Amino acid sequence: MADKKATVTCPGETAVELDVLKGTLGQDVIDIRSLGSHGVFTFDPGFTSTASCESKITFIDGDEGILLHRGFPIDQLATHSSYLEVSYILLYGEKPTPQEFEEFKTTVTRHTMIHEQITRLFHGFRRDSHPMAVLCGVTGALAAFYHDSLDVNNPRHREIAAFRLLSKMPTVAAMCYKYSLGQPFVYPRNNLSYAGNFLHMMFSTPCEEYVVNPVLERAMDRILILHADHEQNASTSTVRTAGSSGANPFACIAAGIASLWGPAHGGANEACLKMLEEINRKEHIPEFLRRAKDKNDSFRLMGFGHRVYKNYDPRATVMRETCHEVLKELGMKDDLLEVAMELEHIALHDPYFIERKLYPNVDFYSGIILKAMGIPSSMFTVIFAMARTVGWIAHWNEMHDDGIKIARPRQLYTGYTRRDFTSNLDK
Ligand code: ACO
Repeated sequence: MADKKATVTCPGETAVELDVLKGTLGQDVIDIRSLGSHGVFTFDPGFTSTASCESKITFIDGDEGILLHRGFPIDQLATHSSYLEVSYILLYGEKPTPQEFEEFKTTVTRHTMIHEQITRLFHGFRRDSHPMAVLCGVTGALAAFYHDSLDVNNPRHREIAAFRLLSKMPTVAAMCYKYSLGQPFVYPRNNLSYAGNFLHMMFSTPCEEYVVNPVLERAMDRILILHADHEQNASTSTVRTAGSSGANPFACIAAGIASLWGPAHGGANEACLKMLEEINRKEHIPEFLRRAKDKNDSFRLMGFGHRVYKNYDPRATVMRETCHEVLKELGMKDDLLEVAMELEHIALHDPYFIERKLYPNVDFYSGIILKAMGIPSSMFTVIFAMARTVGWIAHWNEMHDDGIKIARPRQLYTGYTRRDFTSNLDK
């Protein structure tokens, strides 16, 4: 129930009273649903001031740099939990008991293989295809292979779809990589952890055993945790919008993957690493900063800035620590890390970035870690997509639980008014 009201005076009308809704945390939200019946719509391209749904999954306070999943702070989850436990929490809302976790883990682990015929689907792609193009296509195609148990109105069917996606995404993601190399696909191993199994499918070959390094396994698990969910971002909103028509969940996740691919979203870690490589030396930083500030130059500092965070992205803090751990374990001194740290330092003291509250985001350091692990930059967004799949499904499921209403935004039309048609073409 709303105990506060907001008043809007629509043109030619008396004042309209609107409910002000209160969440458990965060800003109040003015319920504008009745405005349409007063002959006006609201205008908010990019949803900068619009809550598109109600959700209990993730909370972000961008000014304070807080990120909570089901109430639990991200730094605590990244330090004391595992990706599979976080997945359980995102999907079911509560921490699992040891027995619940064992059952969950067993179910996920036992469903990692994909239909053998899917391997042939890969061969239709060019070897040099971007792995995100392949991931998007193959994930959408899963709809054609797993079409049993797919009544989206049945909670058990939705749970089966969630298990299938969570289990099979690392297999599909690793296959995208192996296909690009021309190496044989590697089957999953049930005795390995979620992250360890992914590394195994990425790096082992039939001729050589791959021993999973526990530091890298932990780092990969942390990367997955840090990318697991982030409330109503572009890709999650895309999954919800696609799902709002009752569409197949694999197709909805493929839509989310497409949205994630862009450099303003999940593609930023790949773009950030490319940018650091381009900067190359600390001496070149001022020139890149000058370009980032120049309104006539489309260049932006990748890995910097966020629609919601106007403070340090809490995920970036954990990512930075993990980056140091990984480089230490591998005994690597990465020049790009030096460039990244210097760039961060200079930008954080530059009035342009201070005034606009532009801080490093999660993608600023993740590329350096993944590169150190031997993962090519074209796979970065694939790994992001694999991690985010659980968040997408949690939101898709919540939307169905709450009762779906098809997403159908309105518009401010600025095109021609009515005009009569006579063809310019000779008849
Ligand atoms: N470099 C330089 N200037 C920037 C940057 C940047 N990375 N980000 C924002 N700005 C400036 C804008 O030019 C604008 O300046 P102005 O007020 O003088 O016009 C101001 O800061 C506000 O920026 P907006 O574009 O309005 O902010 P918005 O919320 O729309 O964009 C976004 C957020 C897309 C993330 C943006 O900061 C960006 O492009 N960052 C680089 C890409 C990136 O790292 N994306 C990853 C996001 S995290 C994720 O998806 C996991």
